[in-house]
Amino acid sequence: MSPGPRVLLRDFRLVDETLDMPGSVLIETGSILDVFPQGALLPETRFPRDTTIQGGGSLVLMPALVDLHAHFRDPGYPEKETLESASLAAVAGGYGTVVCMANTNPVIDTLAKAQALKERSDALGLMDLYPVLALTQGMEGRVLSDIRFLEGPLHETAPWIRMLSEDGKDVVSDELLYRALQAARRLGIPVSCHCDAGGPEADAAKAAGKPRECWSRIEENHATRRVIALGRQTHGHVHIAHVSTKESVDLIRKVKAQQEPALTLTAEASPHHLCLTQEAAHTLGDATWGRVNPPLRTEADRQALIQGILDGTIDAIATDHAPHTEADKVQGAPGFTGLETSFALCHTELVSKGRLSLSGLSSLMSASPARILGLTDRGRIAPEFRGDLMVVDTEAVWRVTMSRFRSRGKNSPVTGLVCTGKVLMTIQQGRVVFEAPVSPDA
Ligand code: DOR
Repeated sequence: MSPGPRVLLRDFRLVDETLDMPGSVLIETGSILDVFPQGALLPETRFPRDTTIQGGGSLVLMPALVDLHAHFRDPGYPEKETLESASLAAVAGGYGTVVCMANTNPVIDTLAKAQALKERSDALGLMDLYPVLALTQGMEGRVLSDIRFLEGPLHETAPWIRMLSEDGKDVVSDELLYRALQAARRLGIPVSCHCDAGGPEADAAKAAGKPRECWSRIEENHATRRVIALGRQTHGHVHIAHVSTKESVDLIRKVKAQQEPALTLTAEASPHHLCLTQEAAHTLGDATWGRVNPPLRTEADRQALIQGILDGTIDAIATDHAPHTEADKVQGAPGFTGLETSFALCHTELVSKGRLSLSGLSSLMSASPARILGLTDRGRIAPEFRGDLMVVDTEAVWRVTMSRFRSRGKNSPVTGLVCTGKVLMTIQQGRVVFEAPVSPDA
């Protein structure tokens, strides 16, 4: 194959999970061909179509982000989001790869439905989408979905499926969840467990009229223990979605420390649980604009999550992008739009405040989620990795303005917040797919 046009990104601060140095990057035919330290002799441009993108100042070149958890609402809920609006939001947020959940209408419970969505996304050509396959038909918790007869490893037969999940409708039957985890193991991919299936203690607290913050904590802790136990029995890969309680962080840390060969355990935290607490939910409205599953929790929980991302207990930051209409939010629909603010929010709260290095953030938002998905070709700035990159200005100060969102979901918990750090450009396999408008708060 003759080489395509080259893209030279020159004079940037280059940051990935192991790299933080000034330099330049050359992309050819969609992949990184070379990385040059500052001062090295740079290649000549060869074709008129070759492009040079100039860095400098506070501009940083990082791997594009990888999201393990987003809700695209497509098919079925165009009033909340469509594939097109979600993809535009994703690239505006710096994402090159997104896993979208199956709680659509109809539910994505067959390989054919997942493939159709993947093909529509590829035709758009903005980013690399990986639809999740539901564990049970229609997410009804009764009959296993296509996963019951698929043969593995799936990354050979259906490489666009990298994760299974029943989303927020945890499979209640232990026997069925056991069989789903067994199937996932056969297929060689993780099950994202949302950990909100009741348990007797949570049910009792609910029946006794205890507040949501009380029973939902019992619920999450119980469900986390349950899926870890089932993961052990099936030797599967259990991925815990949006960890939010300090008890769950402690449990995951303890289990990981045991290094059990029979269990692969990974976990994600969402930007809103890392950066906000229940005080924000009270201000926004606990039952409306501040409502999310799992709920925003206490400062002690938030600090435990931060400790968890610092010591490796939590492997990744995932958005749980959950767009809703205004009418749905007013009626209590849980969830926040998040793709367009996740980097800035985490940068502002964790990097600018000195808790985490930019390399650490890159690891949590790019390299580590890519590893969880078995995508070994992205998330780093190194030769042969995909040319999926983003340019951020770490000094840019901007205000979150919902009317500017590409997402149809205007349900952000941080509207009006002044952030430090902004995604200016997203590059997908060497093509510029997003450029921030020049306006300072666009
Ligand atoms: O608050 C949430 N909303 N959490 C989830 O995990 C699902 C999501 C949704 O689909 O709206």
